Amino acid sequence: MQNEEMAHIKQSLEIPVMMAPMFLISNPKMVINACHSGIIGTFPALNARTGEILEDWMKEITTALETLKQENPDKKIGPWGINYIVHRSNKRYVEDLQLIEKYQPSVVITSLGDPGPVAEIVHAYGGIVFSDVINLKYAKKAIEKGADGLVLVAGGAGGHAGTYNPISFVHEIREFFAGPIALSGGMSKGEDILVTELLGADLAYIGTRFITAEESTASDGYKQTIIDSSIEDIMYTDTFTGVNANYLIPSIIESGLDPEKLQRKEAIDFSELDNKRAKAWKDIWGAGQGIGPIHKVQTVAEIVDELKDGYNQSIETVANKNRTFIQK
Ligand SMILES: Cc1cc2nc3c(=O)[nH]c(=O)nc-3n(C[C@H](O)[C@H](O)[C@H](O)COP(=O)(O)O)c2cc1C
Repeated sequence: MQNEEMAHIKQSLEIPVMMAPMFLISNPKMVINACHSGIIGTFPALNARTGEILEDWMKEITTALETLKQENPDKKIGPWGINYIVHRSNKRYVEDLQLIEKYQPSVVITSLGDPGPVAEIVHAYGGIVFSDVINLKYAKKAIEKGADGLVLVAGGAGGHAGTYNPISFVHEIREFFAGPIALSGGMSKGEDILVTELLGADLAYIGTRFITAEESTASDGYKQTIIDSSIEDIMYTDTFTGVNANYLIPSIIESGLDPEKLQRKEAIDFSELDNKRAKAWKDIWGAGQGIGPIHKVQTVAEIVDELKDGYNQSIETVANKNRTFIQK
């Protein structure tokens, strides 16, 4: 059933990509433009500061996508999705779930907890639930509790990331799970999408590549730092939230901290920061290892066009290489 739903979603896509939800970065405009470009657009529910704002955003997205579909009946318009925290720390757990039931996003990505109650609601309207996981234990638990698909957050991903090599991670999951897989971790180019498919995953789940989108809520300084940085400027630490995540080292330094002293949580003396406690995500900027190929600010549509070109070229390259190999 979940594979049928996945196949249905893929038919509405130009390339098998989900723009990943990002705290303080994703917004309705990005989502609408991603869907308009033929990929899945998503955002974290908590980016809307209140339930009322979230409802406004959901209205804006559903109305815009409906209009786009009517105006472009032959164009592939991707579905939208939402990231929903299924943890008791989420004070809007009930409120946001009611909005999900009302506005029916095709894709719901759950983080941190039991996807069961959400799955019941999402299945009733024909949507699909992905749970993001960083290891096999969480993957098995998510499937057991009712998730249809898995987002594999591999090493090098932006935000709270795992450490597993993406290739090995997919292989291990495919040992026991035949359902939909979205693979994430450092993917920034079109060829990465083909690799995702070759590995047997269904979707490339791409976050960092979209931080520098013109429409994103990231500050200009944040975008420029990504453009100026490389893989060596990314640091994996649990210092800021208690959970390991990848961050931009220049933003750590800019906040008055010494990256060398961040290895142990207690090593930071936040009082050194003039009582201006640097906040994860707002001051300490998240980004994954895939920042190397990001060279300028572009619209979401331009980014997706580049991904499409790279994807199509890589298909051709593989086909040509194959031919050469056979001729030899
Ligand atoms: C700045 C930033 C914020 C993020 N915030 C969230 C979030 O709120 N919820 C979530 O499920 N994932 C979040 N993520 C993780 C992404 O959804 C996704 O897993 C990741 O970006 C994929 O790897 P990539 O950045 O290498 O493409 C965040 C990632 C980044 C870079």
